[in-house]
Amino acid sequence: MSTSMLSPNSSYRIDGATPEQQALVDELASSFFVSDEKIASIIETFRQRMREGLQADGLELKMIPAFIPHRPTGRESGSFFAIDLGGTNLRILRVTLKGNSQVDIEPQKYTLSEEAKSGPLFDFVAEKIGAFLDERGLLPAKDDPPIPMGFTFSYPVNQTSLTAGTLMHWTKGITAPNCVGRDVVRLLHDSLLRRHIKVNIVAMLNDTVSTLLGSAYMHPGTQMGVIFGTGTNAAYYERLDQIPKFCAPLDDPAASEMILNIEWGGFDTRYSVLPATMHDIKLNRKSPNPFQQAYEKMISGLYLGEIVRNAALYMVDQRLLFNGRSSSILNEMWSIDTMYLTEAISDSSSDLSIVKDILEKTLGLDPTSLLDRRIFRAIAIMVGERASRLSSVGLVSTLLQRPELLEKHLIVGIDGSMYEFLPQFEERVYDTLRRFLSPDQFKNIRLILAKDCSSVGSAIAAMFYGSTRK
Ligand code: BGC
Repeated sequence: MSTSMLSPNSSYRIDGATPEQQALVDELASSFFVSDEKIASIIETFRQRMREGLQADGLELKMIPAFIPHRPTGRESGSFFAIDLGGTNLRILRVTLKGNSQVDIEPQKYTLSEEAKSGPLFDFVAEKIGAFLDERGLLPAKDDPPIPMGFTFSYPVNQTSLTAGTLMHWTKGITAPNCVGRDVVRLLHDSLLRRHIKVNIVAMLNDTVSTLLGSAYMHPGTQMGVIFGTGTNAAYYERLDQIPKFCAPLDDPAASEMILNIEWGGFDTRYSVLPATMHDIKLNRKSPNPFQQAYEKMISGLYLGEIVRNAALYMVDQRLLFNGRSSSILNEMWSIDTMYLTEAISDSSSDLSIVKDILEKTLGLDPTSLLDRRIFRAIAIMVGERASRLSSVGLVSTLLQRPELLEKHLIVGIDGSMYEFLPQFEERVYDTLRRFLSPDQFKNIRLILAKDCSSVGSAIAAMFYGSTRK
C-alpha cells in the first residue's frame, strides 16, 4: 500500500468564504475524509467478515449461494426472456444471444410507481409481464407450455435453490407488505397464476449475479459483477471448498466453484469501522430500514443526496449557508436526488448556473449567491469523493479473496448510475485499487461498464435452466 495520504481540506478552499464559513466547510471536509490508513483497516474488517460469512448463515456479509456453477463462454445462442426488478425500474426483455458475445435486446421499461413500491409489487410485475407478452402476441394459450423466464431480483434473498428463497428484508426504499420472510418466486408465480399468465420462473438471480453472467458472456474474463447504483452489491465465483456452510447439491456435480452474492450493502451495520458522520447517522435513523445496509447508505445513489441535504442544513442552521434560510422542499427528506449532485459536481460554468437552477428551481430556495453555490457544490464533491473511495473497499476485498485470479487479466463488470455518471468515480476507484493492490495485481484489472448485463445474465440463466423458445 502506498503511504501517501490525501489531504482532507486543501481542495475545499471556497473563494469568498468568510472565516466562519470556511471553518465549517473544513469541518465537513474532514468528517467526510477517509484516509488511506482508515481504508486499510476497513478492508481488513471487510475481508474478515467475508470469511465469517462463508462459514455460517445469518452473519453480516451474507455470502448467499446463487446455485449457479457455470461460466458463460460467449458462444451461447438463442432467444430468451428475462424479468429484471430493480430499485427504480422493472424491465422485461427478450434477449437474443447471437453466439459471439453479442446480443440483441428488446426491452420494455416500467418505472416502479410509489404505489407499487409500497403496495402489491408482485401483482404489478405480473401485470406488466402479461402486457409485455400480450403486446407481442406471445401470451401462451391454455394448452401451450409456460414460457421459461429468468428473474433478476435485486434484494437480499435467503436462496435455498435456484428457484426458491425467502426475502430477508427490503432495501432501496421498497416497503411492499407481506413479502419479507416469504418465497419470492412463489409470490410472483401466484400473482401470475391469478392472471392466468403461463410463465415459469426457471431461475432467480440477484442483479449482481446476473451482471456477472451477462458480463462474462459479453466480456469473457469477467470475474466479478458489481452494482454501484441506487443500491450496491457484488457477486463473484468462489471455490466450493471455501464455502463450508454450503452443502446442497448443484446441477453440475463436478463443479468446483459457484457464484456467491455477497450482499455487501449490509457491511458494518454497527459502524464499528465505517467512518459514519452525524449526517449519515441521521439518515440511517430516519430511513425505512434503520441500521441495515450501513455501507450501502454511505456509497449508493439512493442516499448521497440525502447526506448532502443533511450536511447543507447543518450549515444553514448555523446561518452560514443560504442566509440561514431553507425552503419547504429542502426541508423534506430525500428531496435531493443524487442525479442533481452529479449535475452540480459537473458544473464548470463561472457562475455555477446549473447549481443555481438546482437550488432555486428544483429546491425552491430564495435567490442564492455564488458563494452559496460554491459551498453547496463543495459538499456534493466531498460526499461523492468519499463514496468513490469507500466503494473500492468492497472491490479490493473481494479481489483479494481469490488472489490466484489476479495473476491473470481479469474484468470487473460494473453497472449502475454511480459508476456511470458520478464524476471521477471510476478514476478514484482505480486510484484506490492501485494503492491497495500490488502493482502486479493492479495491472491485471480492468473495470468495464456492464450496461444491460443484468438483463442479459438473466436471459442466460433462462437458457441454462429452461428450454429455448424462439
Ligand atoms: C440489495 C442487493 C442488490 C443491490 C444492488 C441492494 O440494496 O440488497 O441485493 O444487489 O442493492 O441493486
